[in-house]
Amino acid sequence: MLSSERVAELVAAAIRAREHAYAPYSAFPVGAALLLDSGAIITAGNVENASFGLSICAERSAVVRAVAQGSRRYLAIAVVGPKELDLTPCGACRQFLSEFGLDITIVTMRGGEPRMQSLRDLLPDAFDAESLP
Ligand code: THU
Repeated sequence: MLSSERVAELVAAAIRAREHAYAPYSAFPVGAALLLDSGAIITAGNVENASFGLSICAERSAVVRAVAQGSRRYLAIAVVGPKELDLTPCGACRQFLSEFGLDITIVTMRGGEPRMQSLRDLLPDAFDAESLP
């Protein structure tokens, strides 16, 4: 269970990360802050590309940063859109996160307040590697 202080800290980190989003094409900067099981926080923004389909969301950027430094166990991820607009992770990011567990708490903004949901609820009937031959 995340304390309200921890949630506020995570949202603040996501807001700071949004400053470094690279979103010249959509003008829709997003920030994400991933809480590791160690208590450390890893942040990222979305990174777009002139070849639009290559753009990567903030959530996946944060996971890639974490994995690259050897961290694969996550407790939560906070995601903020421009001006704290309501936003939830896209389907691709839900699937990407699920690789590392469905018990991750997703913190999103709803009407200016943080809202907590389990990835398990946001990605019902998830595909997982157990299904691979
Ligand atoms: N985006 C994210 O970074 N995270 C989301 O949860 C939704 C969408 C990015 C992708 C693209 O760079 C921009 O927001 C507009 O879709």
